[in-house]
Amino acid sequence: MDMTVESLERHWMPFTSNRDFKQHPRLFVRASGLHYFDPTGRRVLDGSSGLFCSPAGHCRAEIAAAVSRQLETLDYTPSFMRGHPASFELADRVAELTPAALDHVFFCNSGSEAVDTAIKIALAYHLARREAQRTYFVSRERAYHGVNIGGTALSGMVRNREAFGALLPGVLHLRHTLLPANRLTRGMGASGAELADDLLRFVNLVGERRIAAVFVEPIAGSTGVIVPPRGYLERLRELCDRYGILLVFDEVICGFGRTGEPFAAHAFGVTPDLITMAKALTNGAQPMGAVAVRDSIYRTIVAAAPEGATEFFHGYTYSAHPAACAAALATLEIYRTEQLFARARELSGYFQDAMFALQDLPAVSDVRGYGLLAGVEVKAGDTPGVRGTELQAKLYDRGLHVKTTGDVAIIAPAFIATRADIDLMSSILRDAIREY
Ligand SMILES: Cc1ncc(COP(=O)(O)O)c(C=O)c1O
Repeated sequence: MDMTVESLERHWMPFTSNRDFKQHPRLFVRASGLHYFDPTGRRVLDGSSGLFCSPAGHCRAEIAAAVSRQLETLDYTPSFMRGHPASFELADRVAELTPAALDHVFFCNSGSEAVDTAIKIALAYHLARREAQRTYFVSRERAYHGVNIGGTALSGMVRNREAFGALLPGVLHLRHTLLPANRLTRGMGASGAELADDLLRFVNLVGERRIAAVFVEPIAGSTGVIVPPRGYLERLRELCDRYGILLVFDEVICGFGRTGEPFAAHAFGVTPDLITMAKALTNGAQPMGAVAVRDSIYRTIVAAAPEGATEFFHGYTYSAHPAACAAALATLEIYRTEQLFARARELSGYFQDAMFALQDLPAVSDVRGYGLLAGVEVKAGDTPGVRGTELQAKLYDRGLHVKTTGDVAIIAPAFIATRADIDLMSSILRDAIREY
């Protein structure tokens, strides 16, 4: 393949230093299991399941075959007013995995679309129950809810917002829960449940019946892994119930076994009203997102429309695309037959030990983690974030792909990883971080 700078110029890459990439391209041309391969054939261990997408490992033959079969049989169906069997089967399979109360599934094509879809479901639900004055949304500092306009407005990461102005009006941000008192705590920290009471302040600020929904990532992932303090999610649930506010868990990273349970809602024992998901739904093999909603929300919206009329004016040309459904069905079958969520749970102790062992390095300022997700934070240099960017390049050169945000390396191995793979990830991290 031609790898001159000229040949790379026209693709404007997302969330990338285009100038740097095009000078120092890091291309993958093949993947298998836990490894990527660059154009020279060099193997790079995947420490972040791509972008948290591929827990079953790369290039699973069962998924490729299912997609290929589907494309040869029925490549596309209009998603409005027409259907195909795989989407209904997939909705059943997803609803089997979500908490029992959440049993309707709306399909879209990404995590960002899932978030914006959930925003619209919340608004439509309140309108249907004659509470259309509920127009405020609450999210959290340091949150990442994708990049569409709604999700960007909910976002709590300044670099993702600052270029884009006011976005949605009426979004209030809870304080984040990354507290010094919980530094180097494995799993859930003891301090910070009371931060959920920020929601009470917002209720007192804008009115008891003005907030439509609260969006939180149960574990804030992209910002650098912030595990919720003990009691925090329960408290949010309690306040949402008290004031008729919908609670949305954005499980785009946490969903499908990352915590060792199907969803973080199970792991933390708190049931939201909606769950957004994407990524591991298809093991990353096809773009797909979804929103699982409570039966009562679906029924309220549907019942508000006249008989025979469209009930919810929302959807995408590629909602429940046949190829994505085929990939998702094959993926969920792999998770089931290989019991990959249980495997993630079993491996998580070993993995967390390996990550927390890095805290003896002088340059490591914090380690956080839960399940098969961990954040290793290095002390910032003169400009925060520069070390993190440097670190992911160093790791890549040493044969490890890891996603970094700011100065945090986010490690999220595939569930098929062995202890030897975890050892290798931690030794490459150690070697690279030791240089600071
Ligand atoms: C919690 C959360 N929500 C939404 C998204 C956006 O997903 P996508 O990139 O598929 O649009 C992400 C992506 O990392 C995410 O972590």
